[in-house]
Amino acid sequence: MAEPLILALDQGTTSTRAILFDAQGHALAEAGRPLEQFYPADGWVEHDANEIFATSVAVMKEAIETSGRPIEDVTAIGITNQRETVVIWDKATGEPIHRAIVWQDRRTASTCEQLRRAGHEARVTEITGLLLDPYFSGTKIAWLLGDVPGARARAQAGELLVGTMDTWVIWKLTGGKVHATDATNASRTLLFDIRKQRWSQELLQLLDVPASLLPDVRDCAADYGQTDAALLGRAIPIRGVAGDQQAALMGQGCIRPGEMKATYGTGCFMLINTGEAAPLSRAKLLTTVAARLNGKTTYALEGSIFIAGAALQWINEGLNVPGGGSAIEALAQSAKEDHGVVMVPAFTGLGAPWWDAEARGALFGLTRDTTLAEISQAAFDACALQTRDLVEAMRADAPNAFGEAVEIRIDGGMSRSSWFSQRLADLTGVPVGRATYQETTALGAALFAGLGVGVYATVEAAAAARPATERHDPKLDGHGREAAYARWLDAVARVRTEG
Ligand code: G3P
Repeated sequence: MAEPLILALDQGTTSTRAILFDAQGHALAEAGRPLEQFYPADGWVEHDANEIFATSVAVMKEAIETSGRPIEDVTAIGITNQRETVVIWDKATGEPIHRAIVWQDRRTASTCEQLRRAGHEARVTEITGLLLDPYFSGTKIAWLLGDVPGARARAQAGELLVGTMDTWVIWKLTGGKVHATDATNASRTLLFDIRKQRWSQELLQLLDVPASLLPDVRDCAADYGQTDAALLGRAIPIRGVAGDQQAALMGQGCIRPGEMKATYGTGCFMLINTGEAAPLSRAKLLTTVAARLNGKTTYALEGSIFIAGAALQWINEGLNVPGGGSAIEALAQSAKEDHGVVMVPAFTGLGAPWWDAEARGALFGLTRDTTLAEISQAAFDACALQTRDLVEAMRADAPNAFGEAVEIRIDGGMSRSSWFSQRLADLTGVPVGRATYQETTALGAALFAGLGVGVYATVEAAAAARPATERHDPKLDGHGREAAYARWLDAVARVRTEG
């Protein structure tokens, strides 16, 4: 029998990609398409759900074709997606009632503020592990029902369905037969009870969302139906689904308590596996579902940094320094020793653990001899020091899991730099394992699908396909590390508007 192949679909914020993997986690072929971004008003971000579906099909077809392998060898599809982005559609026509509202969209900030003022946040956090922030899907769904003409009446008449991008793509791929999501995506909606593993009636009432709209919540490795044969040339079973950060956690093999990963893209998402414990954070991290397999839920604490790679992009584009990330890295490496320049890249506010939407960026410690080299190094260091904030929050919130931690496994654009990886180890004091293959998100989706279709017998066997890591141990002495962190905390205190 031919070797089983697994097709991963990674429906991300700025692009949709498909990668065909073998059972050892090797990528055989890939294809991608950019995704148009719509900004209809200040702070609003939307996607065209029909474009998402059309490009999903196109990239999957292209990946299979360019691999040169027969479609019969594709045993299963695994889907991973940008989380929280949500769409509502008519179940008879399949037409969205509005463009999808993207996770970055801030239009429901005032709704969240009102709910917070009315004293709902503690209970929302207890049930969902999240905060009352427009980031999550719940208030976006409420906005769509309340603001799209006729939507609430159609919802009450049972004509509409809601879903995050996994759910939408699955529904379309299966010709409307399957309306389902997985527990990791459900855990980002603000409507899901992460301990009871079911939609929360209490929160559905609070946000006035009819339960009939919601998808069925399944394990990450489960039966999500099969693709309509006309779409890809053959009916292929969909057997794995997870939100992109949870998929990357799996793709990095972080399946035991204390195993953690950080993905450095535009921003940075860091998750630590806390096993079967779902600790409530005192440091404003999110408690979220890491995975649900065979009905057993494992959890993670998550911290999001809004600006990571975007700080380098700002130097490139905002300060007009040509040459991309590698040019900034070369500049950073040429910085003078002990220059004392600190950058707080709070361009769009501060994320975890500060959550200060009004804070703005700043540069401190400039002297007459400061050059772009020191500013560039400060930008890289800001990413490392923000990671240290998350490390400290995780250590405080989950001391047991953190006690098991041996390294931060990193991936994403900035992790291509060995120099940054070392800097990260130095400034956090935690060893860093740099993934030698970057597409851990897609790989994680493939591993879940492989589990779902029986290519792997156990989660351990699936996790063994994770990429090798290049290890960086901290070399900076403790004194230097703590001095840098103290400077950072002082700088953060100066830009904060709350607390
Ligand atoms: O929570 C948002 C996150 O899932 C988006 O990830 O990689 O599409 O920007 P990405």
